[in-house]
Amino acid sequence: MNESNKQDYPSVQDMTDSQRIGIVKDIFASVTDKYDFLNRFLSGRRDVAWRKRTVSEMNFFNTHRILDVATGTGDLALDCANTYPDVKVMGVDFVQEMVDKGIEKVADQNLTDRVQLQWGDATNIEFEDNSFDVTAIAFGIRNIPDKLKALSEMKRIIVENGQVMVLELTTPEPGFWRSTYSFYLNGVLPKLARIFTKNPAAYEYLADSIMNFPTRREFVKLMETVGLKNCRAIPLTFGVCTLYIGEK
Ligand SMILES: C[S@@+](CC[C@H](N)C(=O)[O-])C[C@H]1O[C@@H](n2cnc3c(N)ncnc32)[C@H](O)[C@@H]1O
Repeated sequence: MNESNKQDYPSVQDMTDSQRIGIVKDIFASVTDKYDFLNRFLSGRRDVAWRKRTVSEMNFFNTHRILDVATGTGDLALDCANTYPDVKVMGVDFVQEMVDKGIEKVADQNLTDRVQLQWGDATNIEFEDNSFDVTAIAFGIRNIPDKLKALSEMKRIIVENGQVMVLELTTPEPGFWRSTYSFYLNGVLPKLARIFTKNPAAYEYLADSIMNFPTRREFVKLMETVGLKNCRAIPLTFGVCTLYIGEK
């Protein structure tokens, strides 16, 4: 990001879909260097535990392959490869800077034979139907305007009885935790981000996008709309994060 576009972003409700996609690409290309550090720091390392929980719910029974959609710097892909030594992991993301960082991490962990990360768009996945046991997206679906398209693409590429997993930041039910979380998201987090990143507006967008994400019930409905079955939502850490699981 250059100085001239280091400005506030419009609120999520005021963005067109294509404007939002451009902003998301801009944000992730601009925070790549600090992305892993800020994730750990701003979530108090909960992000690590949430990905581990996601990986622990995975079931490999046919192709022994997983696609990590919106893989970013590859954390979920790496967790999965380290947990399941017989599984082949693919990851796609549409910001090449994030993918490049992920590829470095894969090489550092000597996992290049089993983990392959590459450019790819969640709404137009370039893999054949029925080619993975599991597909997962961690902290990515919030940034995708056409969630139904992404979910149906994820369903298309998994085998019968395979799993679609969505890990996403959500808001707790109204009450003490929701108010505390809203204060943290809107008041504290952008100030902390200002200390560490060139693009603090990215973290204002983060707060805005979390507050505008569908409720748990609405999101489960979206999963059912694309034909997934046994859809469920597992709230994590007082509901500030939710793991959604559906089957084909
Ligand atoms: C918050 S990061 C999450 C990265 C990673 N999954 C993790 O757990 O840290 C969101 C990622 O979603 C990617 N993304 C957003 N929309 C996408 C799309 N339509 N196709 C592919 N990647 C997308 C962004 O480029 C970014 O790397």
